[in-house]
Amino acid sequence: MSKKVLVINGPNLNMLGRREKDFYGSENYEYLCDIINKKAKELGYNVEIYQSNSEGSIITKIQQALDEFDDIIINPAAYTHTSVGILDALKMFKGKIIEVHISDISEREEFRKLSYVSYVATDRVIGKGLNGYLIALDLL
Ligand code: DQA
Repeated sequence: MSKKVLVINGPNLNMLGRREKDFYGSENYEYLCDIINKKAKELGYNVEIYQSNSEGSIITKIQQALDEFDDIIINPAAYTHTSVGILDALKMFKGKIIEVHISDISEREEFRKLSYVSYVATDRVIGKGLNGYLIALDLL
């Protein structure tokens, strides 16, 4: 049976291509989903991509994923730096958790240096652009 992978994207990532292009590039969210789906197919993974602008919805999605998915790739976006709730939900997940950031959060404002998700991440892919999601799939 093929590995089931959930990709979770947090707030404003649906606006890729329109937001801060210097950090996030000019490709849109649909393009990101396309390259993830293509790579997952190559690797023989069964992938679902979920995006939400709401913290509670992301937490609920993680809870639903506990017994349903083998691994999670997550870019919590702004919630990276604020959400103990997402961290606590991820603590229940038994599979691998790969944290992805498109931009290099270690080279930006001070408040972006703290990542709650990093406490539970198996691996982190930071500052590799959209390609970071493909690197994350390779890491699984
Ligand atoms: C981000 C970095 C976060 O600081 C920011 O709030 C985002 C995207 C990234 O992918 O580089 O929305 O997670």
